Amino acid sequence: MENHLKTTSTKNSVDGNGALAQQTVSCSVQPHQQSSARENAKSDPQLSMKDILDSLPFYVMLIDERHHILQANRAVTTQLAMNGKDIIGKYCPKVMHGLDGPIELCPLEEAVKGRGLTEREILDPGSGRWIRSAVYPTGRTTQDGLRIFLHMISDISDRKRAEEQLTASQHELRELSRHLESVREEEKTKLAREIHDELGQVLTALKMDTAWIAARLPAELESFAEKAKAMNHVVDQAIYTVKRISTELRPGVLDYLGLSAAIRWQTQELESHTPIRASFESSPEEIAMEQNLSTTVFRICQEALTNVVRHSGATRVKVTLRKEPSRIVLSVSDNGEGIKEDQLSDPKSFGLVGMRERALSHGGTVKITGIPGRGTTVSVSIPIPE
Ligand SMILES: Nc1ncnc2c1ncn2[C@@H]1O[C@H](COP(=O)(O)OP(=O)(O)O)[C@@H](O)[C@H]1O
Ligand SMILES: [Mg+2]
Repeated sequence: MENHLKTTSTKNSVDGNGALAQQTVSCSVQPHQQSSARENAKSDPQLSMKDILDSLPFYVMLIDERHHILQANRAVTTQLAMNGKDIIGKYCPKVMHGLDGPIELCPLEEAVKGRGLTEREILDPGSGRWIRSAVYPTGRTTQDGLRIFLHMISDISDRKRAEEQLTASQHELRELSRHLESVREEEKTKLAREIHDELGQVLTALKMDTAWIAARLPAELESFAEKAKAMNHVVDQAIYTVKRISTELRPGVLDYLGLSAAIRWQTQELESHTPIRASFESSPEEIAMEQNLSTTVFRICQEALTNVVRHSGATRVKVTLRKEPSRIVLSVSDNGEGIKEDQLSDPKSFGLVGMRERALSHGGTVKITGIPGRGTTVSVSIPIPE
């Protein structure tokens, strides 16, 4: 930086009118650099504010409130390949964008209205490039009484392009995750139905057959009767397991009775398998909606409840579901130890990331808050499509 300043200090490409005032360098530097900066400034009397401005790769100008360029740094003349006389005193929108009026969203317009410093990111219609255009009031006026502003313009196309690529790839990944999630859900539903219907029927037939045999066994074949009874018991267990697996894959109640009924069933399950007391309120009493959306809310609720059981140490959990005119709101609140800040922001908290992504895929949000020793609340809000 110092070298650069030295080498450029004697050059001046902006002509007499447009020359930036020669000033002594005064800038803040780190303590260990201070003495050498001071020595440099002393040993090089040519080092001026103009040199610094001329060494910047972006445009720095002084303009009056009517968009006339008063002074410009070297980047303006070199990059526009113009002489100072073609720039100084000229109408800035014309020089910069080839326009006869201010560019849309021109920050000077805003700054002139008295809103102080104004910074904008604008697409330059002439070049098709993105620029960052900033205007700062100087507090000075021209001899004609026009206010003077410092105007800085930098090309941010590369950053914008990178941002756009990042946004596009995030969008693609989100779409992919949404697609995979719906495929997974479809597969689960299909598997749940097949296990329940096919295997369920086979086992029921088997149960009827063992009962038929048991009823017809001669009384003297006592050990056979015992065996038939044991077989009947094993078949009963298998029927129960089939029901459990198919329900865990996808609770039929969600498809047949709707979201409120499914969450009610889930909280009852939680109460019957754990010591946690669970309450559920739905307003209105039964809420049914498009299948994709109810699956999303149900899966988020399931994950939140699983977390309560696994991590919270809570004795109570309260679940509420509310349908508003334009959105559905779910809240799962426990009285456990409270989720910690680092767990909330940990990218490896896949359960939490999954909840957020599921909500986001429907344009919704998930807010999770934890109060130490008081509990955790998961609040979900998802817009309902018109
Ligand atoms: N209700 C809760 N109460 C306390 N801690 C929680 C709660 N929910 C989540 N956590 C914490 O946040 C972490 C991340 O949760 P999650 O992403 O679901 O991961 P997993 O359940 O697989 O551990 C958990 O490991 C746990 O430490
Ligand atoms: Mg989890």
